[in-house]
Amino acid sequence: KFLVMNRRERTFTAIKPDAVHRGLVGEIISIFERKGYKLVGLKLVLPDRKLAENHYSELRDKPFFPDLVDFISSGPVVAMCWEGKDVVRTARKLLGATNPLESEPGTIRGRYGIDIGRNVVHSSDAVTTAEREIQLWFTEHELVDWDPAVARWVY
Ligand code: TYD
Ligand code: MG
Repeated sequence: KFLVMNRRERTFTAIKPDAVHRGLVGEIISIFERKGYKLVGLKLVLPDRKLAENHYSELRDKPFFPDLVDFISSGPVVAMCWEGKDVVRTARKLLGATNPLESEPGTIRGRYGIDIGRNVVHSSDAVTTAEREIQLWFTEHELVDWDPAVARWVY
């Protein structure tokens, strides 16, 4: 039976400044790697306010927006693009809920975050959002198309 499976779905995931400062970069990348996803984009960025505002433009009317933009543009962000089956929704599960009171202990936010404004990681909330965010943070030549030899042990 032929199984249709989109192994090429992509999402934008970012390690926020709090996690970079706390030395959690390797830990977070490792969680996605061990899950079986393929890294197709990776860079350390010092986002300017314009990039932070654009990234969170849907939240511009929220009371926490100025603090959020200050925070994201304050320090290094590790920008990543991950690829694989259902990666958008699965990445959100790996992250856990936005609010630390609701994020399960096994998730990244559940393990490492206490404050909603310092919640360690970002990942796109839908496939269309992912497309927009990948384009916002990466140029086309920064995304690497490669064939992982172990893929047949994941799928
Ligand atoms: P949101 O898109 O709602 O959450 P998520 O990151 O899970 O997609 O909000 C974006 C970020 O804004 C969130 O990660 C942390 C910050 N934030 C606050 O500081 N206070 C809040 O009350 C909310 C809802 C979000
Ligand atoms: Mg969001």
